[in-house]
Amino acid sequence: MLICPICSSALHTEATGVQCAHGHRFDRARQGYLNLLPVQHKKSLDPGDNAAMVEARRRFLGAGHYAPLATRLAELAAAKTPTRWIDIGCGEGYYTAELAAALPAADGYALDISREAVKRACKRAPQLTWMVASMARIPLTTGSCTLLASVFSPIDWNEAARLLRPGGGILRLGPARLHLYELRQKLYDEVRDYQDDKHLNALPDSLQLADTQTLEFRLILDSLEARSDLLAMTPHGWRVNAERRERILAEPFEVTVSARYDWIERR
Ligand SMILES: C[S@@+](CC[C@H](N)C(=O)[O-])C[C@H]1O[C@@H](n2cnc3c(N)ncnc32)[C@H](O)[C@@H]1O
Repeated sequence: MLICPICSSALHTEATGVQCAHGHRFDRARQGYLNLLPVQHKKSLDPGDNAAMVEARRRFLGAGHYAPLATRLAELAAAKTPTRWIDIGCGEGYYTAELAAALPAADGYALDISREAVKRACKRAPQLTWMVASMARIPLTTGSCTLLASVFSPIDWNEAARLLRPGGGILRLGPARLHLYELRQKLYDEVRDYQDDKHLNALPDSLQLADTQTLEFRLILDSLEARSDLLAMTPHGWRVNAERRERILAEPFEVTVSARYDWIERR
């Protein structure tokens, strides 16, 4: 199923990695993932989330704060009974591992452009094929998947459509309008209304929204670690000034977690 990210020909397994007929070689890291991101496709030395962001997300998710989101994601994926699936932008693999547990008979793949993320993620479910790769050039054959997962992540819709077999789809989990509203109130003078369906405007003709669900619950951020990790793992945290940051860290507060699940089908 794997194809070369440089010339798109089939990749064959070798002792220390994979290789295509044109001699392009890619290593398998000691942790087990494949490095399928050639240097010429990197826009920076170390693309994607850095180690600090990955660790913050890992602690926050590991503490179970978003567990209901992962459970619903896995239920929705299992209901689609995919034969081959991939998590695109898998991060440190929290949601990927839930998907893998819910889809034991399917052939599973996961990728992220961040080596720091994949290095940690691959330990969660060694039965999957883990890849450091770009979502703009996914090293899998055209029409090879019946389910793509995209969780709080950007996505290249055209590349996603290429991977999908007709009737297959993208299970996208993203923030809904009220997601982390109380945190945003603390961060900004004016909380802008968040339009949670604007990603749908970018869909190519080959993809169509077939179903949408939301899941909402309240979360008490009672530990300093939870508040600090949540700040570190969201773009909000990078923009906050020192005074507001101190105020947010100072005392427990409650936030709304509100997520939207879209099933976007390949025509
Ligand atoms: C907000 S994180 C979400 C991670 C994970 N899905 C989760 O929810 O825990 C977004 C992820 O997208 C990855 N990413 C960003 N641009 C990418 C690209 N072009 N190709 C692959 N992954 C990318 C980042 O490295 C990061 O791990």
